[in-house]
Amino acid sequence: MRHIKPADVATGMFVHGFVGSWFDHPFWRKKFLLEDDDDVLKIRQSKVEAVIVDDERGIMPRPRVEIRDVAEPMPARRLATQPNPMATRYTPPSSAPKNTGFKQEARRAAKIVEKSKKQVGAMFEAARMGQAIKVKDVAPLIDEIRESVERNNKALTNLVRLKSKDEYTYMHSVAVCALMINMARKLDLDEATIRNMGMAGLLHDLGKMAVPQMILDKTGRLTEEEFSAIRTHPERGHALIGDNPEIPDMARDVCLHHHEKIDGTGYPFGLAGDEISMAARMGAICDVYDAVTSNRPYKDPWTPCTALGRMGQWKGHFDERLMGVFINSMGLYPAGGLVRLNDHRLALVVDNCPEELMAIRVLPFYCTSRLQEIKPDELIVAPDKGPQILGIERPDFWHFDDWSAMRQSVLAKAQGLSAAA
Ligand SMILES: [Fe+2]
Repeated sequence: MRHIKPADVATGMFVHGFVGSWFDHPFWRKKFLLEDDDDVLKIRQSKVEAVIVDDERGIMPRPRVEIRDVAEPMPARRLATQPNPMATRYTPPSSAPKNTGFKQEARRAAKIVEKSKKQVGAMFEAARMGQAIKVKDVAPLIDEIRESVERNNKALTNLVRLKSKDEYTYMHSVAVCALMINMARKLDLDEATIRNMGMAGLLHDLGKMAVPQMILDKTGRLTEEEFSAIRTHPERGHALIGDNPEIPDMARDVCLHHHEKIDGTGYPFGLAGDEISMAARMGAICDVYDAVTSNRPYKDPWTPCTALGRMGQWKGHFDERLMGVFINSMGLYPAGGLVRLNDHRLALVVDNCPEELMAIRVLPFYCTSRLQEIKPDELIVAPDKGPQILGIERPDFWHFDDWSAMRQSVLAKAQGLSAAA
C-alpha cells in the first residue's frame, strides 16, 4: 500500500481508500480499480489529503521527479508540470462516450418535455387543490428523464431552459429534476438515491403553488410583503407533501432547505455548513443554475458558461466542492476559467457561442510546449471540429498567481488586436 497525492493518481491504479473526511472524496465506494479518466479527474479535484493505492492489485505510482541541483535549472513552469503526468490525459466530461448524439437525443427529449408539461402540471394543480401527490403517476417520468440524461446529458437540460411564463414552475421542476439526476450520477450514487434525487428535484418548488400567481409573475420590484410571501414556499411545499408515505424523506428535505446557504444567510431557518444536507446543497445549486439560465419576463438569461463562471465566484452561497462536481457534471466550462486545448495551448474561456449552441468561445494565450505567452486570438471550439478542450486547469498550477489580472490582460490584448485588425 502506498499513500499518494490526489494529483498523482492515474488509470490502472487500484484505490484502497482515501485519507480525509468521507465528504471530501467523490465516491461512495472506497475500493476500486481506476479505469476511467473521469474518475481520475474527480479524485484530482477532490479535497482528500491522500489516496491509498494497492500496488499489488493495480499499477505502481510513477516515481516522482526529483528536483536536483543542475548546472542549468529548468524554468519554474516546466518543473511545475512534472508532477502532473495526467494533465494531458484528462478526458473532459463533454467528450465522454455517450450513447446518443445531442441532436438525436434532442428529438426524444422534446417528447419527454411535452409529456412532462402535462404530468407535472396536473400533479402541481392537484397539490394546489389539496390532493395527495400520486408518486406512481410521476415515477415513470423520472425514469424517462434519467434515461435521457444517461444517453446525452445536455439535450434535455438545454431544452428545458426555454420556458414560457405559464409553464415556468413546472418546467423549472423538470429541469432541476434532470440536473439533480445528472449530478447524482457524477457522484456515483446508487440507483435508489438517484431516483430520490430526481423526485426531490421535481417537488422542490411545490410550495410555489401556495403563492399567488400574480406575485410569481410580477416583473417589477417586489414589495417586502411579496418577498415574504415567496419566502414561505419551502415550508408551504413541505406541508403540502405532508406525511405522504410514497414521497421519500429526501424530497421533504430538499423542498424545505433548498434556499439555505452555506454561510447561514439563506431561508427559512438560516442553517449553515453541515446543518444543510448534501441533497439540499445539490438542490440549491441546480435550482439557481436553472433559474439564472432560463428566460424570465424580467431578465435576460445568462449563458450556461456565464452562469457557471459567476456562481463559482459567489462566496458563501454554495458548497464549493459540490459546485465543482456540478460544473464537471454539466460537461461545460465556466466563463473566465482556464482550460487546456489538445494543441499544446492554454486558453481563457470567454463564453458560449451564440450562433452555435454546443460551441464555446475561448482565447488561447499560452503555449505549453514553449512555456510562453502567445498573442490571444479568438477560437470557437465546436464538437468534433478543430482543436478541442481537454479539461479545466488550475491557474496556480501554471504559476498564474494573479489569475484575475492575467485574465484582464488577455482580454485587453485580444480586444486591442481585434481593434487593430
Ligand atoms: Fe425555491
